[in-house]
Amino acid sequence: MGKQNGLGNVVGNVREVAGKMVSEMIEAISDSELSDAIAILKNDHAKVKALFAQADALSDTAYAARLKLFKEIDAALTLHTTLEETIFYPAFKAKTERNTDERDEVLEAFEEHAGAKDLIAKLERLDVRDETYKAKLQVLGEMIRHHVEEEESVMFPEARRLLGNDELERLGEQIAAEKRKANEANGKPAGAKRTKAAAKPRPQAARSKRARTRS
Ligand SMILES: [Fe+2]
Repeated sequence: MGKQNGLGNVVGNVREVAGKMVSEMIEAISDSELSDAIAILKNDHAKVKALFAQADALSDTAYAARLKLFKEIDAALTLHTTLEETIFYPAFKAKTERNTDERDEVLEAFEEHAGAKDLIAKLERLDVRDETYKAKLQVLGEMIRHHVEEEESVMFPEARRLLGNDELERLGEQIAAEKRKANEANGKPAGAKRTKAAAKPRPQAARSKRARTRS
């Protein structure tokens, strides 16, 4: 029994480390390096799936680690679903007609987001030591995996056909720009005092190099 638990812990640790490595590798790919909206959204999917894989590998009583992972999942999903609902889905929906499979697909995607958000809101309010916390997080993971699978196997190929590569590239630029804005806003809390060094203007050359790498 003890031996089995020991082996279980080793397997759990290996899965956790592998999940972290995948997250870091995906994190290293910036949105500006990705070709279009679908590539950016798929990269988000891979990142969030890796976070759920890390959560699945945790022991029952790893409360602090579970809470930390949920916070990362919450932030990633909140940003991703907002960008899909405000940029990608409306563009896709505009190309579909009522009572078609494509329209059903996007309407279903909105409803799946709403279901996931309800569960996220419950987890935000719940104590991580609550007996149902782990089950709720697992169900959220299952909902997201199902949603991602449908998007990637059905909606994204349809989007490529309906929107075309140029429009997908344009939407990708829009998504990447909104993500940059959101990340910058999170990195600089409102009301934070600027230090002298931070207030000092950066040399023009450094600024334009940064702008070039982002474009
Ligand atoms: Fe998605």
